[in-house]
Amino acid sequence: MPAAASPGSSASGPGKPGHGVADSFDAVVIGAGAAGMMAASVAGQRGLRVLLLDHAEKLAEKIRISGGGRCNFTNIGTSPANFLSQNPNFCRSALAAYTPRDFLGMVERHGISWHEKHRGQLFCDDSSESIIAMLRRECDAGNVAWRMSCPVQGIEQSPAGGFALRTSRGPVRARQLVLATGGMAVPQLGATDFALGVARQFGLKVVEPRPALVPLTFDAQQWQPFGALSGVALEADVGCGTGKGRTSFLEDLLFTHRGLSGPGILQISSYWNPGEPIALDLAPGRRLAEEWIAGKSGNRQTLASVLAALWPRRLAEQWLAGEDGQQAGLGAMRMADMPDKTLRRLAERIHAWILHPTGTVGYKKAEVMRGGVDTRGIDQKTMQAKSVPGLYFIGEALDVTGWLGGYNFQWAWASGAACGRSLQKAA
Ligand code: FDA
Repeated sequence: MPAAASPGSSASGPGKPGHGVADSFDAVVIGAGAAGMMAASVAGQRGLRVLLLDHAEKLAEKIRISGGGRCNFTNIGTSPANFLSQNPNFCRSALAAYTPRDFLGMVERHGISWHEKHRGQLFCDDSSESIIAMLRRECDAGNVAWRMSCPVQGIEQSPAGGFALRTSRGPVRARQLVLATGGMAVPQLGATDFALGVARQFGLKVVEPRPALVPLTFDAQQWQPFGALSGVALEADVGCGTGKGRTSFLEDLLFTHRGLSGPGILQISSYWNPGEPIALDLAPGRRLAEEWIAGKSGNRQTLASVLAALWPRRLAEQWLAGEDGQQAGLGAMRMADMPDKTLRRLAERIHAWILHPTGTVGYKKAEVMRGGVDTRGIDQKTMQAKSVPGLYFIGEALDVTGWLGGYNFQWAWASGAACGRSLQKAA
């Protein structure tokens, strides 16, 4: 599939971009990413005159780089439980009205081959470019007009209704305005907090934004012994919070020079709050204390070899080096000679290794932004601001954050479709 080049300015729609008289549209969508292209195509195909504009030169960079270049475009098991929000029920209606099967239907209609990787995650067989090209064709089918690259310099509400936009390519009038500018993750690809600024301008509340699906970092000195494990990966149960507020994920984790990464850590990073510890079970599903104590009689294996069978060797060695600070020569001891108390203590530490992250690697390396426009001010069926008729917010700009695994795109498609279906055509 050839690369989907930037559509630039197109004269499709009501007229060529000019610098004097404002072009007028039923709806202007700011942000030609996942949610924006979905909303624009749905509204365009319903007969609305739609303009899609974006400040970037290249179209849909986040789709392009997603899923390692193959775009994990949805998760077949998507449910509201896979999302974080201060208003957890908000996403229900849009997710029910536009399901992973709906998106898959479009993918198949466009002849894009796909596969399920694991846990319901659907990827393109070839390239994420095919998803971008598909969304472009859908926009073309709705005669959507484009302006790229086209920064928006100001937005005002017109006294007569609708919105007046000042853009780098001249004034534009919109009966309805859709903010689809995404979150702040990966600013080097043009991510901004534009939607949050517009929300505040119109008196809407914003839930504090933070990097999410992001590697965690540790105090350099505290992490020094583990930095050498960079590249080691293993399955672990990674959790944070306590009691009913506890969340955990059974996924791989990866040691890095600065801290921890891998799917399990990215997942928990969305729930982790600064100052809180995280707890790692490095032998999930096992009951090491019971197993070891029950099987130790006559067991001539050393603790080092038992741990080396459990984990990658480098981790087993490093772990024992840490434990040796408390009891030198532990690794060379035979299981049969280990006191039950010592085995219990070791097993406890392996099942609940408590660590105190000092932060994250930030938006530069995050996959998404957590927080965003407070959905308590947004209608859940249409994505329209309750207090500002004609103003819509969709996608990652809203305080709806999906787990890792295709959920964030499903939210972009579902919120975009909900908005595209409810935008009104001029009488
Ligand atoms: P999106 O970011 O797609 O689009 C926003 C658009 O607005 C961009 O085109 C941008 O240029 C434009 N814009 C921003 N500021 C603007 C301004 N001031 N003026 C005009 N235009 C502006 N999710 C998933 O489900 N599966 C996956 O495989 C991945 N993989 C992945 C990898 C990496 C590295 C990242 C960073 C992210 C992912 N994601 C993901 C997350 C997913 O990419 C993300 O949640 C969606 O793209 C969000 O869709 P939106 O349309 O809301 O924003």
